[in-house]
Order: sequence, then C-alpha cells, then structure tokens
Amino acid sequence: MDFSRHTALVTGANRGIGLALTQALLSAGIQKLYATCRDPESMPELNDARVEVLALDITDAAQIAAIAARTTDLSLLINNAGIVAAGPFEGTPRAEVVRDMNTNYYGPIDVTRALIPTLRANASAGHPAAIVNVVSIGAFANLPVLGGYCASKAAALSWSQGLRIELARDHIEVFTVNPGPIDTDMTASSDGPKTAPAEAANNTLTALQRGELDIFPDPASQYMISVFKDNYRGLEALFSEMNQQLTEPRVEADLIAAS
Ligand SMILES: NC(=O)c1ccc[n+]([C@@H]2O[C@H](COP(=O)([O-])OP(=O)(O)OC[C@H]3O[C@@H](n4cnc5c(N)ncnc54)[C@H](OP(=O)(O)O)[C@@H]3O)[C@@H](O)[C@H]2O)c1
Repeated sequence: MDFSRHTALVTGANRGIGLALTQALLSAGIQKLYATCRDPESMPELNDARVEVLALDITDAAQIAAIAARTTDLSLLINNAGIVAAGPFEGTPRAEVVRDMNTNYYGPIDVTRALIPTLRANASAGHPAAIVNVVSIGAFANLPVLGGYCASKAAALSWSQGLRIELARDHIEVFTVNPGPIDTDMTASSDGPKTAPAEAANNTLTALQRGELDIFPDPASQYMISVFKDNYRGLEALFSEMNQQLTEPRVEADLIAAS
C-alpha cells in the first residue's frame, strides 16, 4: 500500500490506537485524512493541513450519512473505534453485551456499508481501495473477563473475512488488525505488560505496506496467534490460565473481606 496515494478516514481518532494510527499515517505521507470522533473538540491539534476533523458517532445513522456525503474522495477506511462494556457472561447485564455488539460489530458494519460506494468508485486494479478493521486477538479465543467484548470482536472478525471475499472483485482489500494489550485508556485498569500505541500503529502500517491481510501489531498478539496456529485450543487454554490469574486477586479480596 502506498499511503501517499490514499485519502483515509479513521474512526475514534481522538485518542488511543486511533490517534496513534492518525499520527503514523501523517508521518507515512497520507494524501488527506478525515480524523473522525464523537466530539470534535476532543481531537488534539495536529497542525497539519491534510487533516479534516469531522464528528462521527459510529452508532448514529444520521452522522454516518453526513460523513458519506462529505468524504467522496475516500480510498482507505480505518474502523478503529471500539469499547469494552461486557465482561463475564454470568452476571453481566444484557444491555452491556448489546452495547459492545452495537459499537464493535454493528457500528463498523453501518459505517462501512455507507462508504463502500465511495471506496468502489475510487478503486481500480492498479490502485485498490482498502478497509482496515481494528479487531482484537480476543476474537480468536474468548477471555472471560472480557467475554462479551471478545464475542463482539469474533463477530467483527467473521464479518471482515466475509467482506474480504465479497469486495475482492471491486478491488477493495480488507485487512484486520488484531492487537494484544496496548497501553491506552481501554487497558488502564490492567497492570500487565502493554505495547505503546505508537509502536502498534507503526507496525500496523508496515504490515499494510507489505500487504499482510491479518495483522498482529505487538509481541503479545504475535505470540498468541502462534499458539493459535499451532493448535487453536491452545489459545483457549492460555486464556483460561490468564483468566484465572486475572480473577484470582478478586477471589482473594472477597475472602479477605468476608473473614
Ligand atoms: N487497547 C487494547 O489493548 C486493544 C486491544 C485489542 C483491540 N483494541 C481495539 O482497538 C480499538 C481502539 O481501542 P483503544 O485501545 O484505542 O481504546 P480507547 O483508548 O478507549 O479509545 C476508544 C476510541 O473509540 C472511540 N469510540 C467509542 N465508541 C464510539 C462510538 N460509538 N463512535 C465513535 N467513536 C467511538 C472513543 O471515542 P471517545 O473519546 O468519544 O470515547 C475513542 O476514540 C478498539 O476497537 C479496541 O477494541 C484495543
């Protein structure tokens, strides 16, 4: 992928991985970039004439329609925005499971559906358009402390795979990015090892340039996918161990509180 030939749109561009991808795309020479976020006031000043900040809540149909009308030069869509609402399947309110699905699965689908006609119009055999879906290594096996979230990401991965086949004839390539723990607000409550968002973003762009369809942008996700490739139940076993470690302190704290 030659970024200098692309006009990109990033969702959730105001912080975390979205901001890091935005900054990395600017450094990599992107032609133009629509930095979209729920509250344009929250977008850090990037002092770059190539950037246009637009309001986009990916669950808001009217805003999606307005974005589609405004970005007719788009050739690279990055579906990054996401949330973690739902945890273990027992005891997590159904509304939180629905909230993850609405943001992590239906949201990207609705945004993409609205922008496919533009991507198709701006694509050719020599200059394919691209959709990059930021999914998660949690799409490949379920980590129950993030159970509902992982399920929404598994749905997003499956959708991405289908979309890849569906759009190939239109010269629209579909990529997935599947990070492990990255040091953003989303993981603020976890104190395990994390990769810096800038490193994950730079590794993502390098992989896109190489044409890797499924990208693992950090050491943890690279290790985890190697376990999965060796034996897909192996990642489930690893996540089972991790889940025990993550939930044990809570059990200990409960025992202390009860004693
Ligand atoms: N951090 C990790 O370890 C990790 C690992 C695997 C995958 N991921 C995925 O990477 C992506 C980015 O995560 P992050 O770590 O950068 O999280 P983050 O720091 O919490 O940022 C989340 C971003 O998504 C935006 N967002 C949430 N709901 C939205 C909506 N309805 N419409 C538009 N924007 C919305 C947020 O906007 P506001 O500022 O308005 O809230 C924010 O910009 C997510 O898809 C996440 O699932 C992250």
